[in-house]
Amino acid sequence: MTPARPILVREETLDPSFVPPRLVHRDVELDLLRRRYREALSKGLPFHLMLTGGVGSGKTALARRLASDLEKGGRLGGFPVRSAYVNCWRRASDRTVMLDLLRTVQVSLPDRGYSLSEMLDVFEQGIRKNPAHLLVLLDEASSLVRQDTKLVYLLSRSREVGLGSISLVLVAVEDLFPYLDPASRSSFGVTHRLSLPPYDRAALVDILQARAELALRPGSVDRETLDQIARIAAPSGDARFALEILSGAAHAAEEAGSETIEAEHVRRAKGSLLPTVTETQLESLSTHELGVLLALTRTLKRRGAATSSQKLRTNHTALLEELGAPAMSRTTFWRTLKELERDGLVVLESGASGESNTVSMDELPASLLTTLLEERVGRGRSRKP
Ligand SMILES: Nc1ncnc2c1ncn2[C@@H]1O[C@H](COP(=O)(O)OP(=O)(O)OP(=O)(O)O)[C@@H](O)[C@H]1O
Ligand SMILES: [Mg+2]
Repeated sequence: MTPARPILVREETLDPSFVPPRLVHRDVELDLLRRRYREALSKGLPFHLMLTGGVGSGKTALARRLASDLEKGGRLGGFPVRSAYVNCWRRASDRTVMLDLLRTVQVSLPDRGYSLSEMLDVFEQGIRKNPAHLLVLLDEASSLVRQDTKLVYLLSRSREVGLGSISLVLVAVEDLFPYLDPASRSSFGVTHRLSLPPYDRAALVDILQARAELALRPGSVDRETLDQIARIAAPSGDARFALEILSGAAHAAEEAGSETIEAEHVRRAKGSLLPTVTETQLESLSTHELGVLLALTRTLKRRGAATSSQKLRTNHTALLEELGAPAMSRTTFWRTLKELERDGLVVLESGASGESNTVSMDELPASLLTTLLEERVGRGRSRKP
């Protein structure tokens, strides 16, 4: 037997630090920002920006893409554009952020009690050695801004304070405007604030598709599987979570010797990222719920990411026969399915024609859940009647 061909052919492109060449579904925002920067910089003016949006909404990717596009765009207003990126998450003080900024202009100071203004002097010399318009990106800026920062004010008034030409980009999950001092607020008026909406399921599919084309062997994943992943990540609109599942599923598929990523690999990846179904939860299910869930995991083990409710009911009836249990009415079957949906264990989506719904389950690998459920059903134990 020839070994399975690898799936992850350019895994480094799924690394969080990789900035994709194209950000699907963010073209509008990117174009708008490029235009604003070009307009301002060609007049020799800086442009400050506050970029906000939920976790995984593409803030960092958008800010970095913008910075590198502007850097490549050549001279603006007589100066080349250079960018400096600092993640402020663990460096939430003016001085620690400043130490990082100094490194970006190729000066380094030992971290030995220099005052902020001394550091700014050195920073200014650094910029002057290599004249450029500096685009300073302060990512994860919340904790910095929530403290008494002077740096935001100083960087947004770089001309007045004799720092040269600097545009400041503040990136954060929450709106930072309320935390800014009145003087800094004037730099972040409405046209200087952009909030990214969360990605919806369709956008997540396109993002996954674009990233799969970069990272995976062609033909190793189909759109249905990407949609399964998007469905899992859609409630949070988090592209990072979606990409983590894709990467985990690709690994799971390779480990299983499969040439393609299947629904089962996605469930496995999701299960290891977020083990949301616990044994305790299973313990609290009624006999009815356990039975329907077991029929579902068995169905999914054989079939794809989702099944029709009719198919599920057929398999469930067969399961009850196998267990020697009495048959279940259609109404009870539906009620049970609805209960499982309420518990967050299955996802129901209504199809075009009334009762032909699709039923899916992304919580855990179906194979693992089948084993757990078979044990439980076998023991005939459950709390609820
Ligand atoms: N439109 C897009 N097209 C392709 N990849 C994207 C897109 N948006 C986000 N990504 C990818 O999704 C991941 C998360 O995006 P990013 O890190 O920019 O989110 P974020 O808003 O900064 O999240 P956080 O608040 O957690 O820092 C990254 O790997 C990024 O490359
Ligand atoms: Mg980020």
